[in-house]
Amino acid sequence: MKKYQELTKKEIEAELSALCAEYEKYKEQNLKLDLSRGKPNSDQLDVCLPLLSESRSRERCFSENGVDCRNYGILDGIPEMKRLFSDMLGIKEEYILVGDNASLQLMYDTLSRAMLFGVVGSERPWCREEGLKWICVAPGYDRHFRITEVLGFELLTVPMTKDGPDMDMVEELVKDPKVKGIWCVPKYSNPTGNTYSDEVVRRLAKMQCAAPDFRIMWDNAYAVHDFSENGDELLNIFDEAEKYGTLDRIFYYTSTSKITFPGAGVAMMAASPANIKQITPYLGAQTIGYDKLNQLRHAQYFKNAEDVHAHMMKLAALIGKKFDITLEALEALDGLGIAEWTKPNGGYFVSLDLLPGCAKRVFELMKGAGVTLTSVGATFPYGIDPEDKNLRIAPTYPTDRELSLAMQILVLTVKIASLEKLA
Ligand SMILES: Cc1ncc(COP(=O)(O)O)c(C=O)c1O
Repeated sequence: MKKYQELTKKEIEAELSALCAEYEKYKEQNLKLDLSRGKPNSDQLDVCLPLLSESRSRERCFSENGVDCRNYGILDGIPEMKRLFSDMLGIKEEYILVGDNASLQLMYDTLSRAMLFGVVGSERPWCREEGLKWICVAPGYDRHFRITEVLGFELLTVPMTKDGPDMDMVEELVKDPKVKGIWCVPKYSNPTGNTYSDEVVRRLAKMQCAAPDFRIMWDNAYAVHDFSENGDELLNIFDEAEKYGTLDRIFYYTSTSKITFPGAGVAMMAASPANIKQITPYLGAQTIGYDKLNQLRHAQYFKNAEDVHAHMMKLAALIGKKFDITLEALEALDGLGIAEWTKPNGGYFVSLDLLPGCAKRVFELMKGAGVTLTSVGATFPYGIDPEDKNLRIAPTYPTDRELSLAMQILVLTVKIASLEKLA
């Protein structure tokens, strides 16, 4: 098949009419499929089931420092859970605060605390400053963008490149003291699936920021979510920041949401000792402590990073298959000149770029055939994709059969929308 751009008007019409006939057949099937949710399928959750079915004697309710986890106490997390995160991520235990079930909550709390009280290096609470701005790498994670939007920041878009954020642009923007921070998903980024290069990590750690209290929100949500033993390598940002004297710049997050149970895993944040010291009194005002029984369950189930890795390889067998189905289906668009997509080595998403002006149309056509996609624009600040061309595909939630079918329809609707555009 030649490129769609090289088709004559007559060829476009013939192709379009054949594809539309095929589309009508799908419509008649009254399907109900969902490619929008970055959630595990229940087969993944079943792998984690032993975590819930462990019997729990009285003795197994105590953390290794003798604290009864059934009771109040310990604000920053039990030692064995800190050690597990430290082992998994290569972060010093003293940097780690173990939270509740969601890293997103820790991120929101971090920034709302900064608004109310400032952070280390702030001259005043952020809410006492006018016209604050935040850098959003796009396509990116809609929930990050929403946090800074509701807190009143102006969102500045920086394009994602294959190596991470466009650093020339970031370095230019941070010359403005009103720019207070940047959102980063450094490994298997949501939705592009790429991992920041060493050079990008170094430049983020090293760059000169006009705001004395600039922060990098380093959301390493997919830190251990490789599809194989040959996963992407990410430079340790704390090591780099230490070299350049910018340790306080980093707020680091992850959780076990996509290791064990989304909504019922364990989340953490990590930061320099100075940052932890500044945060602790406010945290102590907010809560007596997080759910230590869940921390204990996790830390007893996974003794170390190797256990987590072995578990992730079991999940990878299930997730990898979903990505194979997705990428094999997309091959039908290869060479047509109408789409480009990412081929990640881990994470949860494939990012699909279409001809400009086609994403909303594909979304509508998919809806018409009973397939839900992530809303167009969700991957951009303010929910607006300026070129109307990016779609986020989340292959993990449907069954393999549902996914194959949904992908066939996606390929078909991408072809239809592109031909309509070119006609
Ligand atoms: C980049 C990223 N960060 C955070 C989350 C949510 O994490 P948690 O469940 O720990 O709040 C997600 C979920 O999709 C995500 O993609």
